Parts: sequence; C-alpha cells; structure tokens
Amino acid sequence: MGASGVALAGCGMGRLVRPARTTVPAGDASTVGSPFAEPKALVSSNGELTLTLTAAAMSLPHGRSTRYALTYNGSTPGPTLRARPGDLLRITLQNDLEESTNLHFHGLGVTPAGNSDNPFIEVMPGTSFDYEIRIPKGHASGTFWYHPHHHGVVAPQVAGGLAGAIVIEDDIDDIPEISDSTERIIVLSDPKIGDTPTILEVTQAERRQGREGDAVLVNGALQPMIETTVGSMERWRIVNASASRYYELRLAGADMYLIATDQARFAAPINTDVLELTPGQRAEVLIPITSAGTSTLTTTSINRGMMSMMGGNDMAGMDHGSMHGQAGLGGTVAGLVTDVLTMKAEGSGSAPPLPASIRPDDPLTDDLVRRTREIAFGAMAMGDGEFTIDGKTFDHDRIDISTNLGAVEDWIITNKSMMMHPFHVHAWPFRVVRRSGGKADHGWRDTVNLAAGETVTLRIPMDKYMGKTVYHCHILDHEDLGMMGVLDVS
Ligand code: C2O
Ligand code: CU
Ligand code: CU
Repeated sequence: MGASGVALAGCGMGRLVRPARTTVPAGDASTVGSPFAEPKALVSSNGELTLTLTAAAMSLPHGRSTRYALTYNGSTPGPTLRARPGDLLRITLQNDLEESTNLHFHGLGVTPAGNSDNPFIEVMPGTSFDYEIRIPKGHASGTFWYHPHHHGVVAPQVAGGLAGAIVIEDDIDDIPEISDSTERIIVLSDPKIGDTPTILEVTQAERRQGREGDAVLVNGALQPMIETTVGSMERWRIVNASASRYYELRLAGADMYLIATDQARFAAPINTDVLELTPGQRAEVLIPITSAGTSTLTTTSINRGMMSMMGGNDMAGMDHGSMHGQAGLGGTVAGLVTDVLTMKAEGSGSAPPLPASIRPDDPLTDDLVRRTREIAFGAMAMGDGEFTIDGKTFDHDRIDISTNLGAVEDWIITNKSMMMHPFHVHAWPFRVVRRSGGKADHGWRDTVNLAAGETVTLRIPMDKYMGKTVYHCHILDHEDLGMMGVLDVS
C-alpha cells in the first residue's frame, strides 16, 4: 500500500472543459462529497525527473457550473513531483499566461543560483525557461511545493491556482509503519469562484489584509470524501497553498499524530488536536483508523488582525465601499468553522501501530551560532506603509543580509505590526529556538508565524550551497506589496 499515492495518479482532476460546451455530471470531482482525488503524480526514475509545466488560464468544472482558474498542465493543483535526494529535476516552464511568471521550489534545500531555485528569473508571456534543480544527497525527506514567485503578481497567480506538491522520499519512507500507510496529498486552496479573470482582482484593502477566497478546496475539489478501512493507517501530507488564509485544522472522530512540519520528519509522532498552518506551511500526519464511522476535517477561522489605517499612501485610493466593508474581509473574524473534507471508515480490525522512532533529532546547539541579527517585521515606515522589513520595501538590486557560506545565525524577528505575518526564508531551513508567545514549534521549518508584537528567534545554518535569494512574508499580497528582503550567501 506504500505507493498508493502514486497509484492514484490521473483520476479525474482538472479536466479541461471549455465554458461553451460544459456539462458537469453529478458526482464530478468538483461537487461536495465527491470521491477524494489527487493531482497526477510524476515520479523520478534513474535519478531524474524531466517534465514541462505549462501555466495557462482555463475554465474548470465547479459544482454544476465552471470556474476560471490558473493551471499547470490543465489542473490546479498541478502535478505532484516525487523525487529522492540526489535526483535532478529538469523542468521546462512554459508560460501561456498573459503576464510574466516563474517558479519557486518552496522548502527545498537547493541552490538559488543560476537556473536552479532562482526567484529573480522572469519568464515572459509566450516564452519558456528550463530549470534544473539538483536535490542534494542527504536532503531531508518531506513535503514541499512549487508556485510562481514573480514579484508583484505572486498573490493573484497562486490564488488563481498555480501551485503543486513536491514529495521527497528517502529511507524513512520505508519504515514499515510509514510505508504501510495510505498516503494522500492534500493541497488546500481558497480561490475566489467566478467565470472570468476578475476573480484575480482585489481591492487595495483586500491586498493589505491579504486576500481570502470564497471556498476552501482540497486538491481543487469541494469537501471530497475519503473512503478508508478500519485497521488501516492514513497518512496525509497537507500543504497550505492559499495566498493568505491560515488554517486551523481539527479532525473530529479520529486522532492525528504529527510526524513532520515543513522540513524533515520528527524523532517520533506527536499526538495533535489542532494543526495550524500559515500560508506556505505543511504538515504530515498519521491517522490510525480504529473504528467505523465518519470523521470531518474542519478549519476554524482565526483573527489575523487588521492592518492599521495609517501610513499607507495607497489608502488614499481606497474607495468608500471597501473602507466600510473591512469587517467582512477575510482574516478578521475568528471562530467560523468550515468543513474541509470527510472520511468514512468501514470494516473492523485492530488499530495499526505507530512508528516508535522515525529520525534522530538534530538540534543546533548555542555554541554553533556565529552571529545574531535583529529583524523588524512589518514596522511602520514613513510613506511606505507597513509592509516592510527593517523599514524597507523590496528592492531586487539591494542586498539586505549578506553572510558567508557555513554561517549559523540567530535571527531575532519582531513583528512590529498589528496583524499576523508568516516569515519565510528560501533555500536554508531553520529551527525555531525561542518564541515570546511561548508556543512550542516542532522540528525544522521554512515558514513561521509571528503574531502581532511577537518575537521569534530562528537558528539558521546557511550551509551546503551559495547564492542570492529572498526572505519574506508568506501572506503573498504582503510579499507583492514589498514585504521581502534579499539574502546573499557567498
Ligand atoms: Cu512559498 Cu518565497 O515562497
Ligand atoms: Cu519559498
Ligand atoms: Cu504579512
């Protein structure tokens, strides 16, 4: 059963249906309660995975109607890429959109130089670009994802549907309790639903708040149904591919055991009631199916706080309607519960065993730290609004942090604003070593939430490869507004 995620490839996701000829049969993957389906999986062989990703706008089935979406190879999410440490990914990005785009490999510990995971590449409409991503030997196994990163249009492109999962597997995936589980890719998105490209447009107030869409989708489908058997182990790799929405996931009717957050697997499973995922974050959970019945995965909205009403030039251009509509904007109301998917278990059997130990922990002790930096996240700056890092907005010609290969640094990041911001660093994963809010963080991460006023200390080893890349807020509208800096490791 270990390869079940692969075997599920190609089932019904993302068929291209032109609006004029659409008839959506009942039970289609886009209606509530349809069978759970995954994006097609593309698997490396002989150390290589070669593919073309074509980014294009399409009309996809949605309920009994259709919706406008941005797709890779005709589906959203795009295909799941599966590879192993040491493999080479050769990816041709064909841009059939009407604006520039590019690719970022979120969470992969690979070089950001040249035609690897380089966020400064621009792929113009109608052109293509050949990426080559060498995954180092010894790269951690886990769940990663790809999405566009062309500054200024990242939020609309990701919210429109451009995202896909990446799975890196190593020997940990052969631990019997893990390989015997039923693996499922769960890419969460919340697009605006509509038939025209206007779904990608938002008000200035929505950009500042961080856009949230109309529906929570699982692999592009509304509230699908997973069918499983008692005595089996479910294993879910969950990716938050929303532009701005945070998820607070609960599974009523079954126990969840967290085995990984963004990066690398844990030493042992951790029983978890609530999974909090900021945009960009992932989680891998084991769910022993111990009794027959139905469980529902829900997400509860949280109040991310509000941008201040001062300091932004762009506030002047905001119309009256959106000013008064703010209370209703996404991310400001806590406690609304939305169903994400349901799981139906049948049969009988005894509970499957959890793995006792998974991976030795690799803490970064204090004596390794060579340098400490303080970073002000979202501080108010004159004229620039508050979507800044250290009082500055993004400039691709400026290097904000430069350091030497091999440096282990502590970054003490303080959120100076009145709303939550998830801090993300490309290429070099980190550990969260301190948090003023007190909440523990498990394992290695590449994205971490900062509540308003909170200070978080990251310990980040900038080793293995050199290059210039970015760190930013993963509320992608904030990134587009300039909440991003440049990091150069040489
Ligand atoms: Cu998913 Cu620069 O990020
Ligand atoms: Cu990233
Ligand atoms: Cu932000």
